[in-house]
Amino acid sequence: ESLQQEIDRFEITGPDQLEEFRLRFLVRKGHIASLFKQLKDVSPEEKPLVGQLLNRLKTAAEQKYEDAGKSLASSAASVHSLKDDITLPGRTRFTGSEHPVQKVLGDMKQIFQAMGFSIETGPELECGTYNFDKLNFPPNHPARDMQDTFFVRIGENGEDDVLLRTHTSPVQIRVMLDQEPPLRVICPGKVYRNEAISARSYCVFHQLEGLYIDRNVSFADLKATIYSFAKQMFGPDVRLRFRPSFFPFTEPSAEVDVSCYLCNGKGCKVCKQTGWLEILGCGMVHPNVLKNCGIDPEEYSGYAFGMGVDRTALLRYRIDDIRLFFENDARMLEQFRA
Ligand code: PHE
Repeated sequence: ESLQQEIDRFEITGPDQLEEFRLRFLVRKGHIASLFKQLKDVSPEEKPLVGQLLNRLKTAAEQKYEDAGKSLASSAASVHSLKDDITLPGRTRFTGSEHPVQKVLGDMKQIFQAMGFSIETGPELECGTYNFDKLNFPPNHPARDMQDTFFVRIGENGEDDVLLRTHTSPVQIRVMLDQEPPLRVICPGKVYRNEAISARSYCVFHQLEGLYIDRNVSFADLKATIYSFAKQMFGPDVRLRFRPSFFPFTEPSAEVDVSCYLCNGKGCKVCKQTGWLEILGCGMVHPNVLKNCGIDPEEYSGYAFGMGVDRTALLRYRIDDIRLFFENDARMLEQFRA
């Protein structure tokens, strides 16, 4: 009993006491072991009881030793951590952010999906047939010219050409060849043009194509769709201007301008004093294009549009040079963190 008290009272406050405790109680020549040795002198009747008491004593001492060892070790660790200067600023990890062009593209997809359009994609490496021929480009149309198109292979005739698509309109062809009307799709993607690089044009950019084919589709449907899109994209006060234009694959055709975000139509550097900025081309799908894709123009009609995504992002974020979108300078991109 006195040994039990001695064990209980023994204070272990550091490694030295811990070792002393071990030497006093736990080693082979320690107190407990010597009591065990005396067990042989105990009368046979008392032996079981005394033995039990000794065992309990031994376990208690071992337990205390082990616990004390653990708590010393953990407080040693916390003392060590105090040596670290916790007032130093932490290390920040560099995280990427969504590219402004992808943000705008995401918004466009959302707006059109809410109107019932679904998303289709096509290859960037395209054949001449889909990029030009089936879209009703005449054989010697200047758009096929080497100055505009990045050719990968020039074929025996124009139809065998392989090229980097110059617009997303070939995806219209792929969809019409593949699916039965009614069709209501948007086709986002990269397009390539071998043009002079400037603040307003780059050799690669993004377009979003739209195609709607059904019975009795009219130009009024096209206009309503574009207006609804523009109001959601640029705000309810946006003004639009439809200008007559020409594309081989639409008739009639139009180009659409939005009022300039900087001068609100008064005229400034960005809009070259016109007050307007062009964002898309559109029109009613040409009957020849429908025929080329096995759709009867007597039964079906439709509209198509193709808008510049980068151009829209420039307007949206008031950026004045399209090249900034392709340099991927982190100082520019990190300004678009959510
Ligand atoms: N593909 C045309 C361009 O790149 C845009 C367009 C698409 C025009 C669909 C009309 C209809 O300029």
